[in-house]
Amino acid sequence: MIIETFITTIFQQNTRVLACEDTRRAVCIDPGAAADTIAEFINVNNLNLQAITLTHAHLDHIGGVSDLHKIFPQAEIILHKDDEVLYYNLPAQPLLMGIPRGELKALGLEYETPPTLTRNWRDGEIYAVGNLRFKILHCPGHAPGHVILAEENLRKVFSGDCLFAGSIGRTDLPGGDYEQLINSITDKILPLGDDLIVYTGHGEDTTIERERTTNPFLTGYQITQGKFA
Ligand SMILES: [Fe+2]
Repeated sequence: MIIETFITTIFQQNTRVLACEDTRRAVCIDPGAAADTIAEFINVNNLNLQAITLTHAHLDHIGGVSDLHKIFPQAEIILHKDDEVLYYNLPAQPLLMGIPRGELKALGLEYETPPTLTRNWRDGEIYAVGNLRFKILHCPGHAPGHVILAEENLRKVFSGDCLFAGSIGRTDLPGGDYEQLINSITDKILPLGDDLIVYTGHGEDTTIERERTTNPFLTGYQITQGKFA
């Protein structure tokens, strides 16, 4: 699998292009901004962008969808239905976060309404990208419609803002729920297996084993639940 990471916004979000080396089929996970840079990588490497695959609809993950879709209009745009309200209200998201209207342009946070979604993720679906197979798992808590993409054959998971190296996603934004997030991680992400490499939405890569055994949000929970191993 080709994995290229782009840090495109002031939020240090990890945008990624994933591609099947054999077929050159590709997706872009969470284009935060900088569509020109992403498009150049896709074109220089002779990749065929089949979809913009969104883990959730916070502004730092979808701010580049409009521009990228203008360059690759054939690419599908896929998001879980429970994040559609956030998606179509992208222009208002910075204001909801408390950023003054007068500062939006200077911060690169002045957005148009993003293009219409092609379809919604279904929990448990297997999504093919050439020879790659991603299992889509609905993991609410950070955002209501958050999904993760797990390539179990290649032992990699793209966790968005559910799980970070040493931390977890914030749950204070609209639709966030701490208990739900902990349950998503412990019931859906950790069971994928200790050896999986975790590609997170912000910060460095990690592994499930490292987070299961050292992430303070998870070790504390497992002790209280009697699950600590
Ligand atoms: Fe987020």
